[in-house]
Amino acid sequence: MPSSACCGGGVKIKRPKTVFFCQGCGYKSAKWHGKCPACGEWNLCVEEEVDTGSEPGRFEMHFDELPQPIESITSNDKDRLKTGISEMDRVLGGGIVKGSSVLVGGDPGIGKSTLLLQLLQQLAVGGLKVLYVSGEESARQIKLRGIRVGATSENLYIYVEISLEKILAQIAELAPHVVVIDSIQTIYSRDLTSAPGSVGQVRESSERLILMSKKSGIPIFLIGHVTKDGAIAGPKVLEHMVDAVLYFQGDAGHVFRIIRGVKNRYGPTNEIGVFEMWEHGLREVSNPSQLFLSERPKGAAGSVVVPSMEGTRPILVEVQSLVGESSFGMPRRTTIGVDHNRVSLLAAVLDKVCGLTLANHDIFINVAGGVRLNEPAVDLAIVSSIMSSFLGRPIDEGSVVCGEVGLTGEIRGVGHVESRIKEAARMGFTRCLLPHSSSHETLPAANVEVIHVGNLKALMDHLF
Ligand code: TYD
Ligand code: MG
Repeated sequence: MPSSACCGGGVKIKRPKTVFFCQGCGYKSAKWHGKCPACGEWNLCVEEEVDTGSEPGRFEMHFDELPQPIESITSNDKDRLKTGISEMDRVLGGGIVKGSSVLVGGDPGIGKSTLLLQLLQQLAVGGLKVLYVSGEESARQIKLRGIRVGATSENLYIYVEISLEKILAQIAELAPHVVVIDSIQTIYSRDLTSAPGSVGQVRESSERLILMSKKSGIPIFLIGHVTKDGAIAGPKVLEHMVDAVLYFQGDAGHVFRIIRGVKNRYGPTNEIGVFEMWEHGLREVSNPSQLFLSERPKGAAGSVVVPSMEGTRPILVEVQSLVGESSFGMPRRTTIGVDHNRVSLLAAVLDKVCGLTLANHDIFINVAGGVRLNEPAVDLAIVSSIMSSFLGRPIDEGSVVCGEVGLTGEIRGVGHVESRIKEAARMGFTRCLLPHSSSHETLPAANVEVIHVGNLKALMDHLF
């Protein structure tokens, strides 16, 4: 179709300029694509109206700064604001950095709004003026939630608005110490005609909010929706633009919630904070090991505990296996919380090296508490629990195991051995089975017997 249509009198009606955006990665093109040329995803190309850039102010974003020697720039790690929630401080790398922007993603109903409202309340109690901008709920609804979780400080301001320009104006006027935007997908700028939540709007709104934050030094938290496959909705560039990306995760059937850092310009990533959702909001879990082990069965075959590193912190988690004879030709390997392929590989190693006839057995593995374990050190727990269930012989309740398993059945070294042993000792465990290669590391003289195992055969001898 031509870009302008001719009416009877010869008057030209100008059609608004539109381009196509991939809703996944933000790729922009003049024509429609079934498959995005940039990210390769199908059916994400959507037509959006764009501003032609002729209006003043549209491209006037800048920092107003001059080049300066790095030596003359003052910076101080004390610039971090402590949130008062230590699980949150840990994930942020020691507190909120001034002028930083943090994107918080998570499934609907997982507790993002609750978490950030509680965070603001803690800051408000500490005497800071904080602003919670919501485009999702009415002020009354937020107040009700506030009463429920005890967030009613006089320093906590609630602003229900979705217009970017109005929000920026109010932030300038109120000059809060911290701002939360709930959620970035509801905010729209009048400079663009596309609908709130579209790639263009999300990108524009976040760009201008982040710039405001960098210029003024006000830290900003952006809450983001996630798509069906778990990524933050909107352009991928959003994750590049912000300083930190946190995912708030959890299983609807469990009360545990885990906040996980996946990007952090000012701190470590893969650090986690653990919370529990109860009727008065989120409660910190300062001793996650105890929580994850609280319902551990006594003397049951197939259950073993592993000290797994989550960021810089060891957490004891129970791995359970159920091995049973397969009724079909194809044995099943079903896993929750550990990598499926890893389990198939380890089952093959057990079959070959230890002679367990797992090729005609189904294997089901579950990590208790809805936790996901990604590190190789969990291998030893997987093989131990499979052995235990297969043989029908329980593993000693006071033992923990950790180590990586190679294809020939050798047990390879893992990091952070000392802190893993300390955590096990703290939780009352008396025996640690570790790889041989960690035997030269200085080990704490706690009341824990440390056993070094070099291969799966030796492991079996020690366990049963
Ligand atoms: P919410 O913070 O609205 O989630 P999100 O912003 O991520 O969509 O949390 C809503 C859920 O949390 C809801 O299912 C009820 C539950 N909840 C509690 O269990 N206790 C509470 O005190 C609150 C405020 C919510
Ligand atoms: Mg919400």
